Amino acid sequence: MACEKSKILIIGATGYLGKYMVKASVSLGHPTYAYTRPIKPNTDPSKLELHKEYEAMGLTIFQGELDEHEKLVAALGQVDVVVSTLPVPQHLQQLKIINAIKDAGNIKRFIPSEFGDDPERASALPPFEALHENRRVIRRAAEAAGIPYTCVCANSCAAYFVDYLLHPREEREEVVVHGTGEAKAVLNYEEDIATYTIKAATDPRAANRVLTCRPQGNIISQLDLISCWEKKTGRTLRRIHIPEHEILKHSETLPHPDNVRAAIIYSLFIKGQMRIELTANDLEASELYPDYKYTPIDKFLDICLVDPPKPKLATF
Ligand SMILES: NC(=O)c1ccc[n+]([C@@H]2O[C@H](COP(=O)([O-])OP(=O)(O)OC[C@H]3O[C@@H](n4cnc5c(N)ncnc54)[C@H](OP(=O)(O)O)[C@@H]3O)[C@@H](O)[C@H]2O)c1
Repeated sequence: MACEKSKILIIGATGYLGKYMVKASVSLGHPTYAYTRPIKPNTDPSKLELHKEYEAMGLTIFQGELDEHEKLVAALGQVDVVVSTLPVPQHLQQLKIINAIKDAGNIKRFIPSEFGDDPERASALPPFEALHENRRVIRRAAEAAGIPYTCVCANSCAAYFVDYLLHPREEREEVVVHGTGEAKAVLNYEEDIATYTIKAATDPRAANRVLTCRPQGNIISQLDLISCWEKKTGRTLRRIHIPEHEILKHSETLPHPDNVRAAIIYSLFIKGQMRIELTANDLEASELYPDYKYTPIDKFLDICLVDPPKPKLATF
């Protein structure tokens, strides 16, 4: 059985996915902590507000840089589980977290910042492959350090990609279809990704395992997603197809980070996320937690009709 009250430290707690992790950790009743870069005179006021909000929710906030080893070790000494939601450019900085976890010696589980395709099983175009390589480096370092880990392959964040594909906050007449639009992606609502992550972080069955989030109700092609949205909005959208070869070329010729974005679109919507076969040995989140009522993509679109989430563009 899962340990109910582990103390969970989130590194990257003020970020896009980090905010969902904080909410999930608190909702599941865990004493929740954040290790966050120090507030400075030039810190965005919205971050100060968020710190206050977190404190009001009962979070303990440690302010420190990842370079401040002793400070990080001291913070780790007070918790059981570490969830990292650091952004892509900081993925290799997680080596500092691993070193600190080794020195702290008390951490029962480390969840590195991944939350996408499985870097061991999804071949990708070079700009995206470079991200996968960094994720593999962190996996190998955690294994070598003997730190119990769980890697979460979240596939695609629904709020993020529905916003990108359908622009639910605008009343556009057109929609861009990448390739034929037939390949199936997996669009998981961020709230569910966070809940599955926090559940797995304290679950012995997920120790030293990869957890894949692939609920049946979230597997959908672009064309089906568009049709579903048209039915809900009562509007008909003109489809503008960008052919596969053009997206491939963008990944080769556009400057960073647009080349990365193109390579990601190629993986998710041209090749599709169902090309990775899951076997009986794989841990799939909705099978591991059958009692948890995730939000299927159809229901997520209902949320978008009423109050579409406003995701920020990811940094690469
Ligand atoms: N599969 C998908 O569709 C999808 C979509 C989005 C993201 N993701 C994944 O989710 C993970 C988190 O991404 P995110 O977009 O949520 O990250 P983010 O919002 O850009 O940043 C997360 C937090 O990291 C902290 N941080 C520490 N050092 C930093 C530095 N030097 N520069 C910037 N931030 C720093 C910041 O918190 P403090 O200031 O409090 O320290 C920041 O709020 C990544 O692994 C990403 O690949 C996946």
